[in-house]
Amino acid sequence: MAGRIPREFIDQLLSRIDVVDVINGRVPLKKAGREYQACCPFHNEKTPSFTVSPAKQFFHCFGCGMHGSAITFLMEYEHLEYVEAIEALARTLGVEVPREHAGRGEPRKKTDASLYGLMEAVAQHYRTQLGQAANAMAYIRQRGLSPEVVQQYGIGYAADEWERLIPLFGRDYGQQKLLACGLQIENDSGRIYDRFRDRLMFPIRDRRGRVIGFGGRVLGEGSPKYLNSPETEIFHKGTELYGLYEARNNTRKLERFLVVEGYMDVVALAQYGITYAVATMGTATTSDHISQLFKYGVNQVVFCFDGDRAGEEAAWKALKNLLPAVNDEREIRFQFLPTGEDPDSLVRKLDKAGYEAELKKALPFSRFFIRGIKEGLGLKAEATLHLIEDSARFAAEASALLDQMPESLLKKSLLQEIQRLGQVTTAAPVQDTYSSGHFERPWTRTYGRRYVEKSQGAPGRPGDHEVKKTPVRYAMTLLLHSPELAGSIPNPEKLLEWEMPGLILLYKLVEIIEENPHIHAAGLLERFRGTEYENSLLKLMNWQPKEADAQMLQQEFQDCFRQIKRQARRKALEDLLYKEQTQGLNKQEKHDLLSLLGDIHDTAE
Ligand code: GTP
Ligand code: MN
Repeated sequence: MAGRIPREFIDQLLSRIDVVDVINGRVPLKKAGREYQACCPFHNEKTPSFTVSPAKQFFHCFGCGMHGSAITFLMEYEHLEYVEAIEALARTLGVEVPREHAGRGEPRKKTDASLYGLMEAVAQHYRTQLGQAANAMAYIRQRGLSPEVVQQYGIGYAADEWERLIPLFGRDYGQQKLLACGLQIENDSGRIYDRFRDRLMFPIRDRRGRVIGFGGRVLGEGSPKYLNSPETEIFHKGTELYGLYEARNNTRKLERFLVVEGYMDVVALAQYGITYAVATMGTATTSDHISQLFKYGVNQVVFCFDGDRAGEEAAWKALKNLLPAVNDEREIRFQFLPTGEDPDSLVRKLDKAGYEAELKKALPFSRFFIRGIKEGLGLKAEATLHLIEDSARFAAEASALLDQMPESLLKKSLLQEIQRLGQVTTAAPVQDTYSSGHFERPWTRTYGRRYVEKSQGAPGRPGDHEVKKTPVRYAMTLLLHSPELAGSIPNPEKLLEWEMPGLILLYKLVEIIEENPHIHAAGLLERFRGTEYENSLLKLMNWQPKEADAQMLQQEFQDCFRQIKRQARRKALEDLLYKEQTQGLNKQEKHDLLSLLGDIHDTAE
């Protein structure tokens, strides 16, 4: 295992390359004022809303909301992994990517890279075989697969022979590797033969497009219907999703994933233009599958199941594994198919538009959540709870599940709904991260309390509409736009003494800028990739400061701090007043209260 890429190297890399050059080499840009523009490469559009800012070293599309640094651009545009994107940028500068020494302990076991070569070669062989096998071609036609989709998914055919692979690949790779890849089997009497014979072969690729396994279907009737590669050094069924690579490759702007059960379903859906389907491979949907899905910033996922009892049970299992991944940004739905249909048969009947209309109607997470708990208790979905025992069991089951969800508005609403339905108060209180303290104080002003405020957006800018502008957030926006402003904060440590959402992040930004005075917005953001702060910062990047003039910016920034300070004091005052009413104050607190009261008078508008 190579070690981590040093932080400083990424900083330097981003300060030496120019995001305008990186993008312009792939998507020609036109100058427009201080920025550059083009039609967005990530969604279809006729008038350009894709904007690149040389000052921030950042791109942003006002149409589809895609945004990020040069690294993000390469990851999205060329479907690269993070490290690969860094390597690609380093190559343009002609520098090597250094690695930190991997930590102590025994070195990780190295996977044998030649296994990938062997798998690719065998996939190629199966593809060539397909054209020469009349029976396989007839089956492909019978299943209605187009030549294009067969090619796109690299579908092939394994001949009806016991020993085909050894003569072809034995010399280059050796028998041991054919066994290690699961392409051959050794039986009890020591005889070694090919695993896949007379089957239609679906190559399974990993995220980077490397063939890591196969699914093989009998032509017509026969048992087993599907034969899959066994678990090997490079193939893990519980982690991989069939079609994920193809979905990312064939869909320029991936907005949604559809999770189905079968290889044939994925391929048929793609043939009809639904290129974003993936399949689990005969296993339940695991939490590893789920993290794979959400790795790409895709927030809409529909899980598709049979409409029968078994389908519902599989869906419930998936829901349980999903809980830790549920948040307000993600839209998760469950589609239950009519009896006797699978996605393959349904898309052929409904066509793309009809099928997508069905997806829109699929059961939302919250509905299935409530329904599933009731059904688990042997109650009808629409039943009201009459017995106290039922209510209690319902509430207990619900809070056990809710406990696994991170805090969100959705979780809060689910809790309310459960309390309403059960008409009991649940034992496990859900922590309310949206209020600043443990009690609701009806007379407290709501500053800083609402993270999400749907109606407050500045007009016309997607991405803006979810976040309310607070002085803390505006200060961060100004810093992202002009990092040099950080120098004008007299003693930033003060920020940590005040209690207000976002101040810790603001302090972190100031700290990084102080250490790296020449860092720009994209560099700052890169520091937060993969952290809990990444999304918030990305949203803040979408705001433009009101002023462009350096001196005015400075004033706005100062003004933010005055407001932050005022709010912090007002909050401290309210806390003290509340304490005075409920518990009484000690001497020091009384003193603080008096001095705060004086301050508030001084700074009142
Ligand atoms: P077609 O019958 O070809 O349309 O396949 P399907 O995609 O509709 O498959 P089905 O719904 O029967 O099965 C869904 C998935 O379960 C398949 O894609 C396989 O991954 C897996 N599967 C199905 N049958 C078998 C089997 O006999 N053995 C194994 N190991 N897996 C199977
Ligand atoms: Mn089918």
